[in-house]
Amino acid sequence: MKKLLLSLAVVTGLTTACTQQKAVEKTNRLLVLYYSENGTTKAVAEELQKQLDADIEAIEAVEPYSGDFQATIERCNKERESGQTPALKALQLNIADYDTIYLGYPIWFGTYAMPIATLVKEQDFEGKTIIPFCTFGSGGLNTSTANLEKALPKAKILKGYGVRTARVASAAKELNRFLIENGYMEGSVESWPEYSAQQPVTEEEKAIFDAACSDYQFPLGTPETVGKRETSESTDYQFTVKGKGMNGEETTSTIFVTVAKEEGAKPEFTEVVR
Ligand SMILES: Cc1cc2nc3c(=O)[nH]c(=O)nc-3n(C[C@H](O)[C@H](O)[C@H](O)COP(=O)(O)O)c2cc1C
Repeated sequence: MKKLLLSLAVVTGLTTACTQQKAVEKTNRLLVLYYSENGTTKAVAEELQKQLDADIEAIEAVEPYSGDFQATIERCNKERESGQTPALKALQLNIADYDTIYLGYPIWFGTYAMPIATLVKEQDFEGKTIIPFCTFGSGGLNTSTANLEKALPKAKILKGYGVRTARVASAAKELNRFLIENGYMEGSVESWPEYSAQQPVTEEEKAIFDAACSDYQFPLGTPETVGKRETSESTDYQFTVKGKGMNGEETTSTIFVTVAKEEGAKPEFTEVVR
């Protein structure tokens, strides 16, 4: 009997040792966890996964959103009116196994998409480090980050990355810089200068703003002042823009535009910060 107990103890001891070892291994892993309705955020998530050599999982709604812009707007409006958020399928990976989570989503109504609202209610992110990343028509990284901070006061939310849907092809290069410059990944990148102080916009700068922004589907307003910086790759502009909000009220936003150094490069609207 003594022998049997002894062997049981040895077996149990061994099992515990193996489990602990697995937990330690897992603790050092990175998780890229994302929701994507139409594939843009998925593309960014997969690029992050590749660059970080992380684990990856997609968040899925039990009843998927249709992929149609208008239908999704209508469904979200109903969900918001009723105070409900969509039911999610169970995750395959366990959030408890990770310290750092890259959390990705499209911007909906200025903040993280509805499935993330469910995720932050249902999962325990206490003590986790979260690095948000998002894709958007025009902007929303800052507001969604602030909302994550409110929703997850016990998590540490670090500086995130955002890219416009129209510029997702630039994400691989931008992510590399983003990861290194914020110390999330080893490597070295040339450091870029700060933007110069805001000055009244010249005719030439106004033309650059218009070339970058005039085909955006919603009016973005009129640039009043601008700061600039020169990098080895581009000339970047930080415009202060006056416009009208949804309710007709005066708004001020910051709109970033970049012009690559290559011959004939077109000005690109990179982000609006409201
Ligand atoms: C319901 C809905 C609301 C949206 N609201 C915003 C918004 O407030 N601001 C914005 O810049 N883009 C908005 N968009 C555009 C999406 O953020 C953008 O297309 C995103 O890249 C889609 O990502 P996905 O392909 O991963 O689903 C919205 C899209 C949908 C469907």
